[in-house]
Amino acid sequence: MRDAIEARVEEARARGLDPLEFLTLLIDDELARRDTEGVARRIHKARFDEVCDLRDFDWTYNPEIPKGRVWDLASGRFIDAHASVVLCGPTGVGKSFIAQALGLEACRAGQSVLFVKTSAVLTDLAGGRADGGYQTRVRRYVSPGVLILDDFAMREYTVAQTEDLYELVSRRHRRGSLIVTTNREPADLYPLFPNPVLAEGLLDRLLNSAHTLTLLGRSYRRRQRPSAPETAGETAPGCDAFVSPQRVLPHGRMSPARGCCLTRYLTVTCLMIAVSGRRGRPCVRTQTRPSLRPDTGPPQPKRGSRGWPLGPAQPDRGRGPVG
Ligand SMILES: Nc1ncnc2c1ncn2[C@@H]1O[C@H](COP(=O)(O)OP(=O)(O)O)[C@@H](O)[C@H]1O
Ligand SMILES: [Mg+2]
Repeated sequence: MRDAIEARVEEARARGLDPLEFLTLLIDDELARRDTEGVARRIHKARFDEVCDLRDFDWTYNPEIPKGRVWDLASGRFIDAHASVVLCGPTGVGKSFIAQALGLEACRAGQSVLFVKTSAVLTDLAGGRADGGYQTRVRRYVSPGVLILDDFAMREYTVAQTEDLYELVSRRHRRGSLIVTTNREPADLYPLFPNPVLAEGLLDRLLNSAHTLTLLGRSYRRRQRPSAPETAGETAPGCDAFVSPQRVLPHGRMSPARGCCLTRYLTVTCLMIAVSGRRGRPCVRTQTRPSLRPDTGPPQPKRGSRGWPLGPAQPDRGRGPVG
C-alpha cells in the first residue's frame, strides 16, 4: 500500500476525490496486490517443472488434441466437483504441458496445487515407510486441492507401491482433484499392478471419477530441436509420423504428413519393383506393411516398440521421468 499511496494521493487531488473514494482506491490496490502475491505463492508451492499457460499452447501442431475439452477443464469446474483428469497419449504430445497449465489455472483460481512425478512420490513414500514418517509424507500429497501425478504407470508397480498409490487415490477420492498423465490407455493400466483387488479399487476410483482425454499427435520435442523448421505444419523428418499408429486420424482420414510420406514411399516402392523386375528377382514385400493400408484401420502397435501404448512394463524402482 505504501508504494501506491503517493500516486493515489496525486490522483485524488487531480480528480477531486472525497476521502471515502480515496480509501476505496487504496483498499482495491491492496486487494489486487495480495491477490497477485497469493497466485505467485501458490505457483511457487506447486513446484511445476515448467510454468505452462494454455494461451501459449500451439494448437496447430497437433490438431487432434481436443482444444474445446481442454479449455473447458481450464474453467476449473472439475475441481469444484472433486473430479479427476486423466491425460493419456504418446510421449511429447503435450500431456505434462496441459496438466501444468490446468494446475496454473487452478492456482489463479485460488486452489493449492502440487505437481510431482509419480516415481518421486513413490520414492518419498518408501522413505516414509523406512523412517516412520509415512503418514506425514502421505498428507503432503493428500492435502493440496489439486495433485498432479505426472508419468503415472510408466512401468509395473511392486506390492508396496500399489498400496501407496491406493492410499493416495482413495484418500483423495471425492475430497480433492487428481490430474494424471500417462503414456498408456486406461485399459492397459490394470496389468501393471500385482494385486488385482487393490488395482481394481485404485483404478475404479481414479477412472470412474475422471475426465479422460486422449491426446494424439507428434512429439513437440522434435519441434524444439535446434535444427527444427520454423513452421508448425512441416513434413515430419524421417517419416516417423508415417509408421506411427497415432497418425491414423478418425474415420480413416490421413494426416497431411502421412499422405506426403505415403506418396514418397509408394514412389520408392515402384522404383524397387521396376528395378527388381528388370533383374528377374521377386520384389520386396514392403507393400504388406500394415501401416500402408489406411482402409484396414489403425495398425496395431508392436509391443515392446517405443510407440503408443508402451510395450511390456518393468517394475518402477523410482527411476527418473521419461515422458
Ligand atoms: N502444442 C505445444 N505447444 C507448445 N509447446 C508444447 C506443445 N506440446 C508440447 N510442448 C512442449 O514440448 C515439450 C514436451 O511436452 P510434454 O508436455 O512434456 O510432453 P508429454 O508429457 O506428452 O511427454 C515440453 O517442453 C512442452 O512444453
Ligand atoms: Mg510428460
